[in-house]
Parts: sequence; C-alpha cells; structure tokens
Amino acid sequence: MSGRINLPPYPRGWFAVDVSAALAPGEVKPCRYFGRDLVLFRTTAGEATLFDAHCPHLGAHLGHGGTVEGENLVCPFHGWSFGRDGACTGMPYGKRIPATATARAWSVREQSGVILAWHDLEGGDPDWEMPLFDDEELTEPMAMRRTIHGHPQEVMENSADFGHFRFIHQTHLVRAVGETRNEGPVLEFQIESDPEALVPELRLDQSVMEGLSICHGPGLSAATLVPKGSGLKALQRLYVTPIDEERIELRGLVSVGKLDDPAAAETFASTLTEAVFAQWDNDIPIWEHKVYREKPALNEVDSRIPEFRRWYSQFYTSPTG
Ligand code: FES
Ligand SMILES: [Fe+2]
Repeated sequence: MSGRINLPPYPRGWFAVDVSAALAPGEVKPCRYFGRDLVLFRTTAGEATLFDAHCPHLGAHLGHGGTVEGENLVCPFHGWSFGRDGACTGMPYGKRIPATATARAWSVREQSGVILAWHDLEGGDPDWEMPLFDDEELTEPMAMRRTIHGHPQEVMENSADFGHFRFIHQTHLVRAVGETRNEGPVLEFQIESDPEALVPELRLDQSVMEGLSICHGPGLSAATLVPKGSGLKALQRLYVTPIDEERIELRGLVSVGKLDDPAAAETFASTLTEAVFAQWDNDIPIWEHKVYREKPALNEVDSRIPEFRRWYSQFYTSPTG
C-alpha cells in the first residue's frame, strides 16, 4: 500500500459486500473486493449469491449483462447458466456440459441487513460466524457507503483508540472500564466517557456516556454508546472491506431504539444517524493519509491498542497454512 501501511492487504474472515436493501431479487451487480472481480446477484427466491466474475466458458464478465433466471445466473455471452453452487446447470446449445464449467461460488451469509462474504486467501471454509444484530427494539438501519484509501485494520483500530474521540469527533474522551472480552474473533470493550477528561467547551451534555465497543472479525467495528441511565438505545456498525491493496469500502449502519412517539423516534433516529455519519466522515482524512506505526509511542490511555493489534493478527493466518 504505497509504503504507508505495511500490513497484509487481505485478512481472513467475514466482510460485508452489500447491504440487503440494496440488492433486489433478480438484480445482478459487478463488484470488486479482495483484489478480484466478482459478481453479486439475488435469485428469484431471494438468495444473495457471490461468484468470481468471469465465466468459466470463454471469460465474459457475468456482472455485465448476466441475468437471473430462477435460481440461476445466465451468462450474457453464450447463455450458459450457473446454479447457486456455481455448477453449470444448462447450455442452450451442445450436449455435454464440460466438467470444468463451474463458476467459483463464495461462502455468503445474509443477516441483520448485511450480505457477508467469507474471504480466505487459501480457500478455506468459514470456521466461525458473525453475530446477529436482530434486536426488535431497534429501528431498521440507515446506511452510508464510502470508498477510501486505507486498510481494514487501521479502521478497526479506532475501536481501541479511546484518545481520538475528543479531537476527531468532538465528544468526550472515552475510557475502557471493566473486563475486556477477548474470545477468538470477538474483542469487546466496555466503555464510558471519562468525566475527569471533560473539556467544558466540548461537552455535549452533563451525562456520562456508556456502552460497548465491539470488534467482530477483521471487518466489523460496532458500538453502542448512550447517555447513562437514559433508556435510549443506539447501535452503530461500521463494516470495512478491502477492494484492492490500496482501497477499502466502508459501510456504516445506524439503528436506534424505538420510541412510543413515532415523530420523536424519527427525529431521534435521523439526528443521531446524521451525527454518527458525520463522525465517520471525520475519521476518513486520518485513515487516508496516516502511516502504520509498528512501534507507536503510546501512553496509558492507549493501552488497549497493543491488545487490539495482537487480537487482529489472528486474521492474517490460516488454520490450514
Ligand atoms: S463466456 Fe459465458 S457462456 Fe460463453
Ligand atoms: Fe473514530
């Protein structure tokens, strides 16, 4: 990555490739992630499916002119069709389907409003799952999307970087409290705003904010952060997916707790969502221009960063490798 970020570009794990609402039944989209050309489509029955883009026959890009027929994707060049597992299911001419006529189908999960693909450079199968965020008390998420220069680990590291909130996000300094949960692909900090660190002119209000900062796998940083004792709820999820060795895609989703008064709920949801989107946008110039310091000079507030980095390093190795 232009020498700025000396980290392997493609970690192993689940990454968002779209939000559910953006892919209708029958829709076919070309896309590019993990340095590869891909095609994402939704079958008539509603199954989100991801293939390598180029047809195993003579190499047409299935995302440019390919069409969904039932549970199959039909190539625009010679009309061969491929089922969800990638196997060729039909040819409009000729009698014998060649044994090699199989599109590479990726492992996909669709859950909590997001379509996730499993990436493993060595082709290994998923060996853990992503969490569900299906809280019925939360509204449907509102989503933003950005393509930027950067690396997934650098975006995720923000979850453990409690010092930056005051400067980038104009909120309270945040600190980790209680036990860290560090279990396999999950790293979770309990966090609250630090009352001793409040700067009066930057204070949002008098209340202490508390919540969770959750890293789940190499490409999801989620957080809840709400005023203590307020009964309000909010969940923000930032998915980061490598496009190639230079660029990443960010998808931010915000959902808030439902309130009895629908008008108040809508105002709360849109105000909070806009604020969170603006906060992510504030991070972007840093991510786009920073270098990765392998041995950073840290103080005691930064103490979770080494822990985060040790945890994240698991996504650069494969159990088969
Ligand atoms: S290139 Fe796809 S059917 Fe020929
Ligand atoms: Fe941030």
